[in-house]
Amino acid sequence: MLKCSFIKGPILHRLKYSKGRGQSLAKAVGMRSNKNRNIIDATAGLGYDAFILASLGANVTLIERSETIYKLLQDGIGEGILFGGEIGKIVGRMNLIFGDSKNILPHLSPEVILIDTMYKDRKKTALVKNEMRLVREIVGSDSDHTELIEVALKFATNRVVIKQPRYAEPIKDIKQCSHQILGKTIRYDVHMVA
Ligand SMILES: C[S@@+](CC[C@H](N)C(=O)[O-])C[C@H]1O[C@@H](n2cnc3c(N)ncnc32)[C@H](O)[C@@H]1O
Repeated sequence: MLKCSFIKGPILHRLKYSKGRGQSLAKAVGMRSNKNRNIIDATAGLGYDAFILASLGANVTLIERSETIYKLLQDGIGEGILFGGEIGKIVGRMNLIFGDSKNILPHLSPEVILIDTMYKDRKKTALVKNEMRLVREIVGSDSDHTELIEVALKFATNRVVIKQPRYAEPIKDIKQCSHQILGKTIRYDVHMVA
């Protein structure tokens, strides 16, 4: 059964073995120079990326449009807050909003926007085997991802970061990114807008 938890499971493994602000995700969103970043995770999913960013000090607004995933995430955040301690503090920096980011982003004056849709082929990433495959069964394939990126590029004031499998084709109809951060299986396409 699909569940979102920040107090047990794979996210704690990722937290324990991550390379802090030296990890690719943190570099991509610009946390090396500013640890108090305000970040919008426009495709929240189970909140794992957001949790890692919040663990490094960022304030993260998470937007999720699937009611089912939103409720799982809401439960996971609630559980984390009740758990307290360091996890409670991290989860306390995560602010969850229900809705479609294409409609919400224009009202938020976002600095940094992270986008990780279901659109692309994820067969090489570890999570696809279990949780992400279940998420995909619920939300489908996010076929409007180009429109979401266009809205993000219009409203972000610092950068838009698009998470992709490392060898994914460039996204059709989206201009070339400013630079890329490469991980073992993941690539972050960074569009600087400031
Ligand atoms: C690949 S998952 C994100 C996984 C997430 N990065 C994590 O670490 O758990 C994509 C999620 O984004 C959501 N999503 C896609 N497009 C969206 C949009 N325009 N607005 C809000 N949520 C969206 C989907 O419903 C899905 O739950």
